[in-house]
Amino acid sequence: MLCCVESHERKVGRFVSASAELRKLTTPQDLFQAAAEELIHAAKESVTERGRFTIALSGGSTPRNLYTLIAANASGSLPWSEMFFFFGDERHVPADSPESNFRMANESLLSKVPVPPGNIFPIPAENPDASAAAQAYEKALRDFFATPAGEIPRFDLILLGMGPDGHTASLFPESAALQEESRLVVANWVEKLNTHRITFTLSLINAARLVVFLVSGIDKAPALHEVFEGKEPGEKYPSKLVHPANGKLIWLVDRAAASELSAAA
Ligand code: 6PG
Repeated sequence: MLCCVESHERKVGRFVSASAELRKLTTPQDLFQAAAEELIHAAKESVTERGRFTIALSGGSTPRNLYTLIAANASGSLPWSEMFFFFGDERHVPADSPESNFRMANESLLSKVPVPPGNIFPIPAENPDASAAAQAYEKALRDFFATPAGEIPRFDLILLGMGPDGHTASLFPESAALQEESRLVVANWVEKLNTHRITFTLSLINAARLVVFLVSGIDKAPALHEVFEGKEPGEKYPSKLVHPANGKLIWLVDRAAASELSAAA
């Protein structure tokens, strides 16, 4: 399917601002195909230019279809040995939990492609101490990227989703992690879920070369309208706070999710 994605003509609406490109796809399938194209392009370009591709996968349910598409169609055409997989957030559960973002990505993609196991970096969310898990993951990131003290590792691609409340990764509205300015990965208490989550901070997300949001479904329409056209502060809709300082931001949304946006957006 991806072979024809390259030449697949989709009805897309494009809106490019100084900092973000909003691409409206017609159907969820168009959305996943567009996302697959972006991932494949970023992977090939990164490996060509820098010898490797570093990606942080998003969790939840939306990306499962993207991962399945990639596994089914790009298994033989990507430089898997030079691709390194991280996770932008994780639930505070073991890797075999049905809630685990790692489990979802492993089942739909990572176990189905020839990526070396050493290229996959799950968040150690089985640790009962969420803060210790976050600190361990931050150390693993800094060790992998060999980032000088005070500098922030720069992912080639960070995939993000958005919840109906405007959260992204595990940066929930008015949660403490939104105020974090020095850490890369933190344990974030999510009151409404009565649990910790482990998440990239905005500092780490906004350091990326490319951030791609995948937003599908009518339940996301009110939050998407607020992100693009509303006046609420970013603390109430954390997805508003994602703006890569020296990178590209692409929003891939389907028609249902975009249904409350004005024509101008
Ligand atoms: C998670 C995700 C989260 C997700 C949004 C959207 O751990 O759940 O990282 O940020 O992207 O909640 O989830 P859906 O795609 O399931 O709507």
